[in-house]
Amino acid sequence: MRNAGIWGIGSFAEGREITNKEFEKTLDTSDEWIRSRTGIERRVFAHDDVNTSDMAYHAAVEALQTAEVNAEELDLILVATVTPDYPFPSVSALLQERLGAPKAAAMDVSAACAGFIYGMATADQFIKTGTYDKVLVIGVEKLSKITDMTDRNTAVLFGDGAGAVVMGPVEEDKGLLAFDLGSDGSGAMHIRQDPQLIMNGREVFKFAVRQMGESSLKVVEKAGLTKDDVDFLVPHQANIRIMEAARQRLELPVEKMAVTVHKYGNTSSSSIPIALVEELKNGKIKDGDLVVMVGFGSGLVWGAAAVRWGR
Ligand code: COA
Repeated sequence: MRNAGIWGIGSFAEGREITNKEFEKTLDTSDEWIRSRTGIERRVFAHDDVNTSDMAYHAAVEALQTAEVNAEELDLILVATVTPDYPFPSVSALLQERLGAPKAAAMDVSAACAGFIYGMATADQFIKTGTYDKVLVIGVEKLSKITDMTDRNTAVLFGDGAGAVVMGPVEEDKGLLAFDLGSDGSGAMHIRQDPQLIMNGREVFKFAVRQMGESSLKVVEKAGLTKDDVDFLVPHQANIRIMEAARQRLELPVEKMAVTVHKYGNTSSSSIPIALVEELKNGKIKDGDLVVMVGFGSGLVWGAAAVRWGR
């Protein structure tokens, strides 16, 4: 069976930049509290007239360009989101039309902040088996539309954004070497939308610290490698303290972990691909590097992927 890898990548995180100080005006909180407990300094909220599919579109166009793939060639569009424009039709169907991808199948994946990893693992199955050649995977969220801006427990944590990859067959030793997906529905009520976002932060924190480390180690093992082989870690950007716990489990130096949480906050399914784009631009990820991506979120669910970078 052939390997599936990342051919091209794009992101979008534009809109209103909101600093922690702005929340001091409306909530009983402080810049100091938010920075020290989460690592977040600011986040971006999409403009009112920009919906989830609009952000996804911009990230997708960039990913297609860098992959040198035309939308007409796409076989499948997979969009990971918990904040679609509508409950139905799917964001992926909206994109199929807007991008001009006549032969693409379209489906959305609901796995919250682990959605991008679930999406990549799904694309991997179609590519590996030879069923499809070119799959667009997007993580995108407009969390600002479901966040209760009067609740200090959640309002300061989240942001909006989109990240996309085009996946296709790659050389034998490259691409997605292994993935680890899981769920624990006993924690389903800890983070939910009802009708706005509600969270038991302490419980989610405990789960995340444990799971991010375990899943990172497991995926490396599944790839037949050890933590010494890992070149770079791209964790879900929820909270710097949670990310640090995963980094320490892999015994990686600080410069080998992607950090964008200070600029964008937690953008759920889009945080991993946005961070990937930034670190590629910074020259931190090179051809042949072993990159571990790991995320967790509402479900509770988690997912990790070990990717040998390159085509
Ligand atoms: N400003 C000031 N105080 C705040 C606050 C804010 N924005 N948000 C919460 N607090 C308060 C709480 O009300 C609590 O007060 P209390 O002790 O009087 O009840 C106090 O801070 C401490 O709460 P605690 O939960 O112990 O803080 P913490 O150090 O664990 O940090 C989170 C809180 C939310 C940052 C942390 O629990 C977390 O990151 N959890 C995971 C959340 C997450 O990643 N969710 C997304 C999943 S994809």
